Amino acid sequence: MLETKGLCKNFGALEVAREVNFRLERGARHALIGPNGAGKTTFINLLTGVLPPSRGSVLLEGEDVTLLAQARRVKRGIARTFQINQLFRGLTVQENVCIAVSERLGVGGSMLRAAGRRADVLDEAARLIDMLKLGQDADRRIIELPYGRQRLVEIALALGLQPRVLLLDEPAAGIPSAESHILLDAIATLPKDIAVLIIEHDMDLVFRFAERITVLVSGAIFAEGTPAEIAANREVRSVYLGSALDG
Ligand SMILES: Nc1ncnc2c1ncn2[C@@H]1O[C@H](COP(=O)(O)OP(=O)(O)OP(=O)(O)O)[C@@H](O)[C@H]1O
Ligand SMILES: [Mg+2]
Repeated sequence: MLETKGLCKNFGALEVAREVNFRLERGARHALIGPNGAGKTTFINLLTGVLPPSRGSVLLEGEDVTLLAQARRVKRGIARTFQINQLFRGLTVQENVCIAVSERLGVGGSMLRAAGRRADVLDEAARLIDMLKLGQDADRRIIELPYGRQRLVEIALALGLQPRVLLLDEPAAGIPSAESHILLDAIATLPKDIAVLIIEHDMDLVFRFAERITVLVSGAIFAEGTPAEIAANREVRSVYLGSALDG
């Protein structure tokens, strides 16, 4: 679905991506893990077109999209979670989700009211709100919500784009652990053919979610395999997992 070939990125003398050859299969449930500063967020920025690579290429279903602008990649089905500051903070959860769905359907923009009256938009927004267990907050404005609930709204917006590839950079950060299962459940109910790549430091979530794990260290792929293979990898344990898996 999504592939990189010899992807490199330098910030001056700092090499943040080194010859990364990576494949995200159709329908993947894939986790990208590694120490702070390993280059995980940068890698997602290269996949989405936020940053241009220094060398190498990004392929979407075999087609070279390395030079494609960010907005065009979104249209081709590569979605990432919105940053919280991209939510319309003065509008309600329901209104925000309607805007995302409307944009995808091409009926969005400034016609919020008109879009919000369309039955198909309302139905889909209600389904997404339900999926993320945001029903009780549907009519509250974003600024009134705790941080963790705001993050769930971000996921609802990304899903409103009906992506083929969903990239999640620490989606559980700031969500109380008692609520992080809502996130996993929502991801579990996604259509099987959506490829999901998640960056996450919570190993509990990673090992519950992932069918495949890539370990990034200093911008290079250090190891890749099934969760069982990664958990059993002594070098991975010493550089990153350490005691996270022992307890
Ligand atoms: N725009 C930039 N200019 C210069 N250096 C940058 C830039 N963005 C990131 N870096 C550096 O690149 C390295 C990789 O950063 P990145 O944010 O990709 O790491 P990460 O693996 O996502 O870390 P974390 O787990 O802490 O989120 C870090 O040393 C960071 O300081
Ligand atoms: Mg990061």
